[in-house]
Amino acid sequence: MTIKEIFDSMDYGTAPESASEAMAWIHDHGATFGLFIDGAWTKPGDTFETKNPATGEVLAKITQAGADDVDAAVRAARKAQPGWAKLSGHQRARKLYALARLVQKHARLFAVLETLDNGKPIRESRDIDIPLVARHFYYHAGMAQLQDAELPDREALGVAGQIIPWNFPLLMLAWKIAPAIAMGNTVVLKPAEYTSLTALFFAQICDEAGLPKGVVNIVTGDGAVGEAITAHEGIDKIAFTGSTDVGRIIRKATAGTGKSLTLELGGKSPYIVFDDADLDSAVEGLVDAIWFNQGQVCCAGSRLLVHEPVAERFYTKLKARMAKLRVGDPLDKSIDVGALVDPVQHDRVSKLVEAGAAEGDVFQAPAEMPATGCYYPPTLITGMSPAASLMQEEIFGPVLVATTFRIPEEAVAIANNTRYGLAATLWSENVNLALDIAPKLAAGVVWVNGTNMFDAAAGFGGVRESGFGREGGWEGLLAYTKPKRKPATLKPIPAVAAPKGAKVDELDRTAKLYIGGKQARPDGGYSKPVWSKSGALLGHVSLANRKDVRNAVEAATGAAGWARTTGHARAQILYYIGENLSARADEFASRINALTGGRSGRAEVERSIDRLFTYAAWADKYDGAAKPVPLRGVALAMNEPVGVIGQFCPDDHPLLGLVSLIAPAIAMGNRVVAVASEPFPLAAADFYQVLETSDLPGGVVNILTGSHAELAKPLAGHLGVDAVWSASGADMSSLIEYESAGNLKRTWVNHAIDRDWMGAEGEGREFLAQATEVKTVWVPYGE
Ligand code: NAI
Repeated sequence: MTIKEIFDSMDYGTAPESASEAMAWIHDHGATFGLFIDGAWTKPGDTFETKNPATGEVLAKITQAGADDVDAAVRAARKAQPGWAKLSGHQRARKLYALARLVQKHARLFAVLETLDNGKPIRESRDIDIPLVARHFYYHAGMAQLQDAELPDREALGVAGQIIPWNFPLLMLAWKIAPAIAMGNTVVLKPAEYTSLTALFFAQICDEAGLPKGVVNIVTGDGAVGEAITAHEGIDKIAFTGSTDVGRIIRKATAGTGKSLTLELGGKSPYIVFDDADLDSAVEGLVDAIWFNQGQVCCAGSRLLVHEPVAERFYTKLKARMAKLRVGDPLDKSIDVGALVDPVQHDRVSKLVEAGAAEGDVFQAPAEMPATGCYYPPTLITGMSPAASLMQEEIFGPVLVATTFRIPEEAVAIANNTRYGLAATLWSENVNLALDIAPKLAAGVVWVNGTNMFDAAAGFGGVRESGFGREGGWEGLLAYTKPKRKPATLKPIPAVAAPKGAKVDELDRTAKLYIGGKQARPDGGYSKPVWSKSGALLGHVSLANRKDVRNAVEAATGAAGWARTTGHARAQILYYIGENLSARADEFASRINALTGGRSGRAEVERSIDRLFTYAAWADKYDGAAKPVPLRGVALAMNEPVGVIGQFCPDDHPLLGLVSLIAPAIAMGNRVVAVASEPFPLAAADFYQVLETSDLPGGVVNILTGSHAELAKPLAGHLGVDAVWSASGADMSSLIEYESAGNLKRTWVNHAIDRDWMGAEGEGREFLAQATEVKTVWVPYGE
């Protein structure tokens, strides 16, 4: 026999992991679980069954929490929070270290439990999920330790409600709980109904670690429990990972409540193979991209884009590899692909594929599949058109859809032709090409010559309908802290009423809107007079309508080239705007005094010039980072602009309020549609004359005037807008956050943004963080 023949004929033996320890743990609890609230187990209430999807066997009964249980959990978390936050970072760090060590100590039990409940291969839960869980607690123990020294200006949000999915049950728990408690928050966490067991075991180790009671509370049950957590008034923040549909429901449910929100949602991530790629590595990468966890991964490389010259060769290699994948008992250490989480998910995947399969050529492998259990064959569908339903819909199963491209630009266009923006993978041996393409991809994470790599130090999260917020790294802490400062109170300022018997037509001067670098008449042709406190007519101001909003957004969209200018170039323009404002300082000061009836116009102009210089300074200094990840590579955290930002300016400080919002946004490469102070709009109209003389490309800043309440809906609902900031005196948070659910744009509203604009808190890193998205780009580096 030749060596080749031996290799060809060799087969794996089975290597089953024993389930006995995990089953014993389940039976120690009578195979029926209550909830973990305030450091103690409740008596099991109404229960539902959790099953092993590989066999259909019932593993345990889990309590379906009621509204009272959620309330008790939130109250326990509230009670515990001040004391937990008051501990030193070091004291909290010790608890997180203890949790990390206990996860490691019980790693085998955790891994087997996870595989039994979820159906994922034991190799994955043992070698990937559980080690990453321990790493997350170690890393965030360090964050707690450093908090006092490194984040002296930030503090815990309070109580976090955390709702997680079933695809990485314990890992998602760790991603949620570790940063939250590290920063001094307490949590109420709900695992997904299919996979509660490892969360319940985690509750037990919280007890073993001596975590103060009430810091971590685990409530189990279905979506209704998630809804109750979302709606509870005692919750300060909701962190959700799951489907985009539920993310949207949660966005609407929390609109206007003042709760912070982060959403990590679905994806349809492109996997791009260029003709100069190491094709064998790229094939192996695909095994990790789409067959890891049976493709039930939010960032799965589920859309394959192959360079045309190598497509046939690549598909042939891929099919050969697929034929060798072993599908079977997840507890067997030698299998590659396990069971889907539940028959419901199996049915969902099957139906999606049946409905869309005719759009391409279907290949399924391997020939051998278990006869029973929730198994779905690894599937490749080639010849898809980029618009095909299976190229657009998240399948969340082991199904890869593929198409080809001719030139890199086409690859980028196809890759970005999706409503999602979670991750992207690209393979090329040409570093120039790879690093040229990475910034062009609409994604929160990009992997170069690797895929599905995760680490606690590297931010993870999406753009577009994949949600907002980052988990991991320093950037992830923003989601669990807030700046320490006195909360501002929203103070709407009414416009000065017309004096009795005033004649409005004696002065024919209507300030226009500023759209696309040009003064534009309002679509509706309406305007209104603006009076000074002493009764003088200061001028007329245009009243924008929804058509003007559309035109402004279109102009902003057209100015996308601004994002590609250098920080240095943007700084030059901001300095220039500052200089030009300085040259007209007297005129602006008297205008502000006339509008507001105050005497602080001069100080406001000086502060505005200062602020423009601040952001000119920041334009090339708001650095990214290189994350030392314990894998062969480095994860670059790149600060990218958010896109088009809609902004409602504060009522007070008509010039400084405008400058405070637009300057950080454009410094970071965004384009803005700013709606000027409603009571004092004329300062903004004067300001665009400054912009006109400052070399700012048309469309980068668009200024509208009019009713905030009327413009909030069209601006927040516009699908071409990526974020909305509202520092308006009117409380529009409910409307803006509700409308933002359409394309899941980021929002920054009301008390979170409103502040003393003259003070130091009116500028700085908080604004820059709101004006950027961190893109994590993993590149090979070192050995
Ligand atoms: P899902 O989004 O319904 O479930 C995720 C979590 O949200 C679970 O804990 C669930 O109980 C909870 N939930 C459900 N409705 C809720 C509501 N109204 N308010 C608050 N919480 C609620 O996901 P599901 O139904 O399990 O899976 C459906 C599809 O979603 C999958 O086929 C997949 O396409 C996608 N999905 C995406 C995930 C991701 O990580 N991006 C994770 C899980 C599912």
